Amino acid sequence: MIHTSINPIDAVLSTLYNDAKNDRIRIEKKQLKFKFRSIHPSDFDDAYLAISKEQGADLVQMIIGNNLKNIVEFGTSFGISTLFLAKGIAQTNGHIITTELIASKAKTALQNFEEAGVADQIELRIGDAMETLKDHKKPIDLLLLDGWKDLYLPLFQLLESNFHQKTIIYVDNADMAESQFFLKTVSQNSKYQFSSQYNGKLVIITIK
Ligand SMILES: C[S@@+](CC[C@H](N)C(=O)[O-])C[C@H]1O[C@@H](n2cnc3c(N)ncnc32)[C@H](O)[C@@H]1O
Repeated sequence: MIHTSINPIDAVLSTLYNDAKNDRIRIEKKQLKFKFRSIHPSDFDDAYLAISKEQGADLVQMIIGNNLKNIVEFGTSFGISTLFLAKGIAQTNGHIITTELIASKAKTALQNFEEAGVADQIELRIGDAMETLKDHKKPIDLLLLDGWKDLYLPLFQLLESNFHQKTIIYVDNADMAESQFFLKTVSQNSKYQFSSQYNGKLVIITIK
């Protein structure tokens, strides 16, 4: 008889993706409720807004293939992307710092990390990334940008002194207007090179 046991990270990811299917309904409900004012980050306090499974699988391969160890993530949400990062660093013996603005989301993410058995490899900082990462002074092998897009540029600039020759910057939702502004600004520095995937949704920045 063949015994197959599902990896605990995959088991948690499967439950989370199942729940994330209801993101659209949750967002539409909030939009109806707050029809007469502009959108706030807290309007998404129950939405995953997660990377796709394909992106997650690619991230795992990227981490293993490039032996990435020191990972910083902007925008944890409920921890789907962080769990893929955790799968990757399980092979490279790495460490993750991730940061989430909304405390209730961070609390659930922590429970998901515990359940997946990876909480010891993940440092989750609760609060505004511009604050929680402001004293970061360690080399970054992979920076995953997936919080609100208006902060991509200031956060990149905040962390830039920690980049090295092999640093990879993963820019999700690169096709959004504020991300485009960020990419245009960074492209003025000729030391960075850019490659695009998923019809422009994702841009990978590396150093020449
Ligand atoms: C697109 S979701 C992240 C999805 C997650 N990376 C995934 O794939 O599972 C963006 C998250 O960034 C968080 N966020 C927005 N602005 C932030 C800030 N200034 N500091 C930390 N987190 C922030 C939001 O609360 C939201 O949960």
